[in-house]
Amino acid sequence: MENGDLDFTRFVKSIKELTGIDLTLYKEAQMKRRLTTLRMKLGFSSFDAYFSALTKDKNLLDEFLDRMTINVSEFWRNPNRWSVLKDRFFRELAGSGKRLKVWSAACSTGEEPYTLAMIMNELGLLAGNSILATDLDEGVLAKAKQGIYLDRSIRDVPPDFLKRYFQKEGILYHISPELKNHIAYKKQDLLADKFDTSFDLIVCRNVMIYFTEEAKDKLYQKFSEALRPGGLLFVGSTEQIFTPSRYKFELADTFFYRKIE
Ligand SMILES: C[S@@+](CC[C@H](N)C(=O)[O-])C[C@H]1O[C@@H](n2cnc3c(N)ncnc32)[C@H](O)[C@@H]1O
Repeated sequence: MENGDLDFTRFVKSIKELTGIDLTLYKEAQMKRRLTTLRMKLGFSSFDAYFSALTKDKNLLDEFLDRMTINVSEFWRNPNRWSVLKDRFFRELAGSGKRLKVWSAACSTGEEPYTLAMIMNELGLLAGNSILATDLDEGVLAKAKQGIYLDRSIRDVPPDFLKRYFQKEGILYHISPELKNHIAYKKQDLLADKFDTSFDLIVCRNVMIYFTEEAKDKLYQKFSEALRPGGLLFVGSTEQIFTPSRYKFELADTFFYRKIE
């Protein structure tokens, strides 16, 4: 019988050639488990057979991209961290009076960039500004642009924001067009692509948990280089950086790192 590890190793290599995505930079056991479940659900007896089908069927490839990491997101995920961002850091960042450069990295279906846009609008910081929002998966970016959500993603939206920025139609919540115009979506692989520079704020949450230590190390370095001195990196609630000074970061508040001036 064919060695399953070899079959998977070949799959990883072929995916890199086909899509540019390097699966070796993701935690292996987790990735292998998720992809094995998907492959078996689809009825392929080996990764070789699965890959061969992927090259012929765009829908299968889209499903693969959709499942290789989890896309779940929510507005105001970990609400008290967003309060700190709104009441402390945005006020600090706005102090200079300059245009702000803000990036939501691995934005999934848009809940995070729209949360940023709502907060910035409330603080009078959105006019004339555009938030960059990126993800690896074109499918989630298309959903983000549509801006239509089920109630499970809006449960932490403060009631006054819900009233102001959402229109309820049946069981769906449509995000206000006023916010949509301020978000520029772009496909981007955090592990392979180059970053823009001089950001005031980078929000990158709940994706680094999937990456190997080596990939995270490189990514923190790239984020540090992409921020202006004094700029902030906002990470997810299981993603603290253990030695921030290694990347010219200091802890500014729980899950917020400031690039040292
Ligand atoms: C769990 S979601 C996080 C969404 C949002 N940031 C949040 O915290 O609610 C993870 C997202 O990371 C994206 N992703 C995975 N690998 C990526 C990579 N190498 N580059 C960019 N995005 C990636 C996935 O497509 C998915 O949309």
